Amino acid sequence: MKKTSYKELGLVNTKQMFAKAIKGGYAIPAFNFNTMEQMQAIVQAAVETKSPVIMQVSKGARKYANPTILRYMAQGAVEYAKELGCKKPQIVLHLDHGDSFETCKSCIDSGFSSVMIDGSSLPFAENIKLTKKVVNYAHKQKDYVTVEAELGVLAGVEDEVSAAESHYTKPEEVVEFATKTGCDSLAISIGTSHGAYKFKPEQCTRDPKTGKLIPPPLAFDVLKAIEKKLPGFPIVLHGSSSVPQEEVDTINKYGGKLPDAVGIPEEQLRKAAKSAVCKINIDSDSRLAMTAAVRKHFAEHPDHFDPRQYLTPARENMKKMYIHKIMKVLGSNDKL
Ligand code: G3H
Ligand code: 13P
Ligand code: ZN
Repeated sequence: MKKTSYKELGLVNTKQMFAKAIKGGYAIPAFNFNTMEQMQAIVQAAVETKSPVIMQVSKGARKYANPTILRYMAQGAVEYAKELGCKKPQIVLHLDHGDSFETCKSCIDSGFSSVMIDGSSLPFAENIKLTKKVVNYAHKQKDYVTVEAELGVLAGVEDEVSAAESHYTKPEEVVEFATKTGCDSLAISIGTSHGAYKFKPEQCTRDPKTGKLIPPPLAFDVLKAIEKKLPGFPIVLHGSSSVPQEEVDTINKYGGKLPDAVGIPEEQLRKAAKSAVCKINIDSDSRLAMTAAVRKHFAEHPDHFDPRQYLTPARENMKKMYIHKIMKVLGSNDKL
């Protein structure tokens, strides 16, 4: 693909967006997309709520949909937002969990306005070295591309509570990391994790009335300590789906099997959004909203086989979820 700057596509980077979000006490939604229906639902939700939005693409999404198609879908998203009446869309096209300099470079060259280089599994010095290499390339472009880095390891569902704690971002490392790499934002680990099973049942308590799991709280003390070391620096939370119980119940009611799926309670994300956390990543909730709607549709209409019949309610349900996140959790509505 011809080297293209994101500005030619009508996209923006995260620089100003994050500065405004920190000042305003809200967070920008970062929604993953793999399909056209997700892209449409994200754009519709962002336009209707007048919210800036980050559309992010993972390695898995690139493999599933094809990198060229996703890049043109993002370009299409900007034009679609305008068609829906948004005069100046604030849309970022972001690489989620970039795993190498080459992947980041390829995204930057094709028109991404922001990339994440995820060196969180590397030793500290190597994470700095790799992140710095990506930052140098991103920042020297004609149009400044922003870079998200990660320090600390997000707990996996296999981890013990104690192991999870030992993976939290160490506040004493953040100043050296941010200064030496020059990154524009920092993803930290304070107890969130990826997927629909964020905690093992033994890490939670159970609501005696409903039997539902109540997850342990996020480590707000660690977040506070990081904010103190890096005042005003943009902080990112990955693994921030809430795993809405009504979607899980719908999926289970119509033949699915997601026992004990649990996410991050929305009030904790609301609290985080008011701090220096200015980007909150949500992917699993979109998957759940889509799956719940499709399962329900098939159960109620066993004769349907046209994808438009079941993807229409799926898209509607995702849009409803995105609007809810923007307005009731992150507070990024009416910010354009
Ligand atoms: O961080 C993980 C995101 O939810 C993307 O997931 O790699 O399955 O596309 P994926
Ligand atoms: P969830 O799995 O909680 O949606 O997290 C998504 C994410 O962090 C993408 O980078
Ligand atoms: Zn992530």
